[in-house]
Amino acid sequence: METQFKHLFTPIRIGNMVLKNRIVHEPTDVSSSHSTGEVSERDIHHHSEIAKGGVGMLIVGATAPDSKTGRPTVTGLVADGDNYIPGLARLAQSIQRYGAKAVCQLQHPGRQSAIPRHNYMSSTDRVIKLPWSAGHEIVYANAEETGKAVRAMTTEEVLEMIDIFAEAAWRVKQAGFDGVELHAAHGYLLSDFMSPYLNNRNDRFGGSFENRMRFLLAVVSQIKAKCGKDYPVLVRYSVDEWVEGGRDLAESIEVAKVLEEAGVDALDLSQCIQETPGSGFDPMQYPEGWTMYASEAIKKAVKIPVLNSHTLRNPEYCDQMIAEGKTDMIGLARQLLCDPYWPLKVQYGKVEDIRRCISCLEGCWQESMMAQKEITCAINPACGRAEYDALKKTENPQKIAVVGGGPAGMEAARRAALLGHKVTLFEKSGELGGAILGCCMAPGKEKMKWYADWIRTQIAKSNVEVKMNTAPTLKDHKKFDFVVNATGALSYVPEGVYGEVDRIKPFEKVIACPRVKCPYHPKDRKPEKVGETVVVWGDGYPAIDTATFLASIGKKVIIVTDQKEFGSATEVIHMYVTRKRFAQTDAEALDSKPYKYPVTVIENSRIREVRKGEIVVEDKAFNEQVIACDDIVTCYVRPNIAFYQEMVDAGLKVFNIGDSDRPGNLSHAVHAAGDFILNFDDKFILNANNCFIKDVPLEVQDILSK
Ligand SMILES: Cc1cc2nc3c(=O)[nH]c(=O)nc-3n(C[C@H](O)[C@H](O)[C@H](O)COP(=O)(O)O)c2cc1C
Ligand code: SF4
Repeated sequence: METQFKHLFTPIRIGNMVLKNRIVHEPTDVSSSHSTGEVSERDIHHHSEIAKGGVGMLIVGATAPDSKTGRPTVTGLVADGDNYIPGLARLAQSIQRYGAKAVCQLQHPGRQSAIPRHNYMSSTDRVIKLPWSAGHEIVYANAEETGKAVRAMTTEEVLEMIDIFAEAAWRVKQAGFDGVELHAAHGYLLSDFMSPYLNNRNDRFGGSFENRMRFLLAVVSQIKAKCGKDYPVLVRYSVDEWVEGGRDLAESIEVAKVLEEAGVDALDLSQCIQETPGSGFDPMQYPEGWTMYASEAIKKAVKIPVLNSHTLRNPEYCDQMIAEGKTDMIGLARQLLCDPYWPLKVQYGKVEDIRRCISCLEGCWQESMMAQKEITCAINPACGRAEYDALKKTENPQKIAVVGGGPAGMEAARRAALLGHKVTLFEKSGELGGAILGCCMAPGKEKMKWYADWIRTQIAKSNVEVKMNTAPTLKDHKKFDFVVNATGALSYVPEGVYGEVDRIKPFEKVIACPRVKCPYHPKDRKPEKVGETVVVWGDGYPAIDTATFLASIGKKVIIVTDQKEFGSATEVIHMYVTRKRFAQTDAEALDSKPYKYPVTVIENSRIREVRKGEIVVEDKAFNEQVIACDDIVTCYVRPNIAFYQEMVDAGLKVFNIGDSDRPGNLSHAVHAAGDFILNFDDKFILNANNCFIKDVPLEVQDILSK
């Protein structure tokens, strides 16, 4: 095969299976099975898309060996009965059909179970507070304050669980999977027992290194006994737990040696226990390759293949890591949710067309695992949705105007052009990007620029006609068959503030990027300067990013929010890192430059009055405090719909999407554009809610056409 990335596309052997290339889908719980745990059509579609993309091996995510005592998500896969075999067999075939080896990960979530919601099994009795864990405590009020009690398994239960794991592995083999992986990472049951930090037992399964390894080794040995010693068994474990008293690299090297000795066929290296979530589900702040130290060291201690992962996105880097012998295989989890065709694009050298995962965790972790919904991706609305495959080129191209070059407008324009419509995109400023452009200014959010670059490149390569610095008129729009309004949101000052209200600055102007050397910079944009002490008023990403930017340039920042908890509507692990930085520390494995001043957060409060050099803040109980400050920035936003209303009043066929419909995050904007495309019908049927409907019954079509 002719490819510039030859190391990625070199075969490798794991036990008795040969992978055709080194790109591996890391296990991801896509929460898409039936509520019983049986494989669904969505599971099949999702995994076969990834297999089609050309991975060498696909490890299906957390599959419960004993759903009665622990299931990581309410719609996670289950393998605790023979009735699951037919579905698992279809899943394995849907992967193998495209040349990938199919491996199934067995995971008992232990203390982090979503089901059942009581009697959580662990190595040790304790109360835990893990709002971001896959156990979804965040959806239960006050979980963080109260925590949840978990209990130590009895020795008999541990012995029984060894057989339960082996039986599940046997079913996986029976279903036709090429191998099985044990999930012994991230603080779940096997990992909990291995951890010197979590395991306080004093029986043969706790205490010394040998005792902590006993449960996992017994499971490996029992699987080999039941499935045959040639049946490939992989183990995923966390190299660093990033807590004092937790496992570190030195012990992990010993773990690797012991696992090799026990007949494990490959090591899949990960990071974290749920007490240290930043390193396990690395949000945007984590740089590419931060875990390479782990496989580099462990490879020196063992001969079996080693797989590394976490924030690997760029093929040049991945290829180089294999070439330098730092890892044998490249593991991708979120990247393949975001773009299942990563391997294919790499193979054919279409690198700039890869939609790189921006590690936002908004679609996959927050909106799926946390909210207990099926998997999605913030910037790939097609993730897990077969409806997108059914989209076909139109035979009746329409002239579509898209107003607004933010993420919603660009995604709608790009996809409409792909369908064959004639699209004109109007952007009133000199730069495409809209609300995501400010993110470049918040240290740790640089990956947002990956998305901005990708979508701007796709627009440039498409047939979309782009009219920059153009605010269209009603007359312009009358030339189109249809208008998509994506004019975004604008900041505003909430009512009920007295005094020098004009001094309150809009956040868009404060975090406007001043780097005129950037090829995209509109040149005429001038950011607003602020003084030494700045009050950031509001919540959500506008306030988080504004505060992060100002703190990073040495300002004293005070956030005022009317919410009970600042940032509670945003992604939890991102907030975990953000809060650490606000407190002048950092999350595990990171070493950003501490801010000059800690960021102060005043919750349950609002600004009442603006005076010269100070403001009056009032809390929910009407207590007032005066805060000295040089500037105030509002981060409240509302839809920018003046022109949309004009178009509606003029009787134009117009559809409103993204922030101009309802302010939200990037995921909301991109998915709104996707929904528009899925529903768009060239016969223009708009229902009473101004929504498209398509595929209406023939008799209704007939009635409407007369
Ligand atoms: C939504 C989601 C589900 C995950 N499910 C699993 C899982 O079932 N088993 C597992 O070992 N790791 C799981 N992980 C961790 C990933 O495999 C991976 O280690 C992590 O996302 C970092 O790597 P990445 O940057 O390639 O995504 C999950 C991560 C996410 C975001
Ligand atoms: S939602 Fe964000 S983190 Fe998750 S796969 Fe998509 S881009 Fe990556």
